[in-house]
Amino acid sequence: MDLVSVEEINQRIEVFEASQAVAGRLLTVVERDDVGAREVATVVSADPVLVQRVMRMANSAFYGTGGRVRELHAAIAVLGFDAVRSLALTSFVEGSGTITPQDWEHSITTAVAAGEVAKIIGADQQQAFSLALLHDIGEAVIASLDPSYQASLVARRTAPLTAETEQMMLSEERKRYGLHHASIGADILASWNFHPDLVQAVAQHHTPKGSLSRTHAALVDGDRIAHLISSDLDLGASQELAGILLPNYVSDAQLEGLLGSVRVRSLSMIADLF
Ligand SMILES: [Fe+2]
Ligand SMILES: [Fe+2]
Repeated sequence: MDLVSVEEINQRIEVFEASQAVAGRLLTVVERDDVGAREVATVVSADPVLVQRVMRMANSAFYGTGGRVRELHAAIAVLGFDAVRSLALTSFVEGSGTITPQDWEHSITTAVAAGEVAKIIGADQQQAFSLALLHDIGEAVIASLDPSYQASLVARRTAPLTAETEQMMLSEERKRYGLHHASIGADILASWNFHPDLVQAVAQHHTPKGSLSRTHAALVDGDRIAHLISSDLDLGASQELAGILLPNYVSDAQLEGLLGSVRVRSLSMIADLF
């Protein structure tokens, strides 16, 4: 086993402590109506990992900034405060070592897909994107308590989401841990003082009995699209499933374009971020 130096341990602790403080301060700062990008940048700048992530995301091809964003406050203005807050909270949870690159990949693909769906159905794109980044935060909590859970996540994400698989997954989690990841995630968002509508959207991202809101619809369908993209189904099969799983706001002719665009845009953001 590799020996870990005291310096490395201290560095890690410092980064974790910084993230914790930054996430906490950001939660209060972004709630204020009079806050500006420069003030948010001052808070973010205390966490080098977060600074790097915000800069990379703002310069990713997804935002079409052509890699020309050089200053932190400008990067924050490009992403919007909600997305910066989601990144800070995810980085904070990641500090306890429970968010894998595959988890990031799923969050980002869902966020990109939720943003695309939001555009089609007239929901707030930035809100849908930011919420989708955090929608599975409950999984990170379970994974930190039970390492074997992580292996099941890998298998789960390569299977399309259907009403039956979602029900099975939630009831298995409830049987094993007493709660499922969607309700754990909602509890965390509530403790971070997220708006009750967003908390409800996360609580019911696998149990959609009709849409609670447009943001909820964008999240649910964004998640389904992300699962379809990660599955090893061929294009024809995933289009057929998408036609069944997604409500009919996307015509069959548009489906191929939607799946292709989410695939390309999320892959490019992942490549730019890591
Ligand atoms: Fe989920
Ligand atoms: Fe998900």
